[in-house]
Amino acid sequence: MKQSFDKAFLTPYPVFIVASYDENGKPNAMNAAWGGQCGDNQVSICMSKHRTTDNIEKAKASTISFATVEQAAECDYVGIVSQDKVPDKMERCGWTFTKSDKVNAPIIDQLPVAVECKLIEIQHEFGDLRIVGEIVGMKADDSVLTDGKVDLGKLKPIMFDGAQLCYRSIGDSIGKAWNLGKKFM
Ligand SMILES: Cc1cc2nc3c(=O)[nH]c(=O)nc-3n(C[C@H](O)[C@H](O)[C@H](O)COP(=O)(O)O)c2cc1C
Repeated sequence: MKQSFDKAFLTPYPVFIVASYDENGKPNAMNAAWGGQCGDNQVSICMSKHRTTDNIEKAKASTISFATVEQAAECDYVGIVSQDKVPDKMERCGWTFTKSDKVNAPIIDQLPVAVECKLIEIQHEFGDLRIVGEIVGMKADDSVLTDGKVDLGKLKPIMFDGAQLCYRSIGDSIGKAWNLGKKFM
């Protein structure tokens, strides 16, 4: 028998690490789970007002890196502390940055895959903010590639579990998309 719940969630939530520069070029990063890709080249993230949203509004850009099992504690830390209150937030978690060659935003050296985004708009009509960005590039370390493609088996990204409020690793491939269902054709 299925129980009924008033508060629902969709799963899996991603664990996006959104990195940005302030007006002086100081890098920051935060954790964001309430977002996703729209079509081939857009991303939308629901955000409250943070140091990061102020940065994105001014720099008109950010990067989004995928959180990994190896960096899970660092990724959680950037989601529980604001740079407004802890100015050396990035130094504390040990992350270093390289400027993107495509957008005015930092790429986190310790996370192997980063998507580069230009701000399209910040929508205010939903109570919180909704940041909509255009994906203009992606960088991935050689260490997580197989045959020139990003290999999630090597990257070991994590997801956010909205029911148990924990992080989970993303598991093995269990079959090809647009293919497994062919057995019913
Ligand atoms: C698992 C997790 C998911 C989060 N998802 C979001 C989110 O989708 N949107 C948001 O505005 N804040 C989210 N946060 C909170 C921000 O990451 C947090 O407020 C952060 O300290 C903001 O940093 P900043 O002020 O330095 O930019 C999340 C935090 C955690 C731990």
